[in-house]
Parts: sequence; C-alpha cells; structure tokens
Amino acid sequence: MQKKYLIGNWKMYKTVQEAIIFMQQLLPQLQAIDTRPLALSIAPSFVHLSTIAALIDDYKSIQLVAQNCHHETEGAFTGEVSAAMLAAIGVGGVLIGHSERRSYQKEDNLLLAKKIKRVLEVGMQPLLCCGESLEARRSGRHKAMVQQQLLESLVGLTPKEIEQLGIAYEPVWAIGTGQVASLEVIIEMHTLIREILSDQCEGAKVPILYGGSCNAQNVKAIFDAPNVAGGLIGSASLKVDQFMKIVIALLGKDGTGHR
Ligand code: 13P
Repeated sequence: MQKKYLIGNWKMYKTVQEAIIFMQQLLPQLQAIDTRPLALSIAPSFVHLSTIAALIDDYKSIQLVAQNCHHETEGAFTGEVSAAMLAAIGVGGVLIGHSERRSYQKEDNLLLAKKIKRVLEVGMQPLLCCGESLEARRSGRHKAMVQQQLLESLVGLTPKEIEQLGIAYEPVWAIGTGQVASLEVIIEMHTLIREILSDQCEGAKVPILYGGSCNAQNVKAIFDAPNVAGGLIGSASLKVDQFMKIVIALLGKDGTGHR
C-alpha cells in the first residue's frame, strides 16, 4: 500500500527552543507505534531545519520539508535560500507556491516553474501548492483557476520530471479558517487535478495532497477519499498532542501495533 503523506507545515511559528521541545516530545511517541503507513514530514522555518535534522537523525521515518526556496541556483540574492543549500542539510522536499506566498510575496506561476526546476535539479521533491480563492469558487471559476495554476507552473518540465512532484490542493478559503472543504469538493478537485496531470505525464504517479483546516476529527475521511494521497496540516500540527491525535486517527490507537 502507498504510504499517506502527512506534512506538518509550521509556517512562521515557533522559536528554535519551542521546536526542540516539540520534537523531543513527538519522537518518543512516534517511536512507540508503527508509523510505516505514513510518510511523515515536518516543514519548519528555514532556521530550524539543521537543528531538527540533527534531532531526527536516528529516526529515519520522519522527513524534513522546507517551506520555500529561491528560483536561481545561487548568486547575489541577499536573504534568500537556495535549493542546493536545503538538499545539503538533508531536506527531502520543498513547498512551492503556498497560497500565503502567492498572496503576500506575489509569487506567480512562472516563478514557481523555475523553483520546481531548481528543487528537482538537487534531487528533492517539489510539493506544488494550488487552490482557488473564495471569490473564484463563488463565481464558478475554481476549476479554471486551479488548471491555470498547474499548467503554468509545469511549463518546461518533462513528463518524467512532473512524475517526481507532489501536488497539494489547498483551497485558500479553507486555510486557517476552520472551514474544511467537503469531501465532495475534495474528490471533485483531486479528480480534476489527476486529469490535468494525466495529460502531461503518467498522472497516477503523482501524489495529490489536501490542505486546509484538517484536524483529528476530519483527517481520516479526507485521507481515505479517492485520489487523496495525504495532506498538509497547518495549525493542528503546532501542538504535539493535536498532531499525535491526527497520527492516531490515521493509524489506529497503537499504530498497527506496539514495537
Ligand atoms: P491550516 O491547517 O491551519 O488550515 O493550514 C493549512 C495549510 O496552509 C497547510 O499548508
């Protein structure tokens, strides 16, 4: 069976001390259960990546994901972080085009296409985020918007390269609002994304994740839905007990059995 992706996106939360305490509490709880059905990752701030990499060194079943990277390989770009820098410290994947970056940093699809290239060049997995605004959904343009985001961000990629990606469908109106998308919407949009990908490559190879107000109550039904390969968790990933509740909701009380 395919592992389900479970990625905690910490956004701009936690000092390094808080991050260390979180990991020190989380890791023993994960070690007590069989987490093999999950591909677990944490996406902390850049400045915590090395610290957390050292903490999870012995525990190979949790991966590091970065929240962003620059679109050039290297150069005079003060304040930026390159894909190669991330790969060198053991980061396995990079979120590309999260809606908060699209909206606050004005990242557009063509820029995201360049970032995807940089991430692939150094052997990490780009996790391309897409999702419609509330306005687009209300006016019935949600499918067209997601299609445009995907097609423009995949420009210049070969089918083999596209097959290395993960896609995260995160409707903007569901992020941080407590207003999770219905299963009907999730299934409809994931099916659309699968169709778009299938025109570009062997689409079945690309995992499609959901993000937006996931919690321990709704996560199992969402992850079990057709074409859902897992998800990104924002606010419910910030507290160890809430994050563990999500893990347990997916795995059952003891995982698939105590070690
Ligand atoms: P919330 O889970 O807080 O809605 O955030 C989702 C998200 O943005 C994950 O990338």
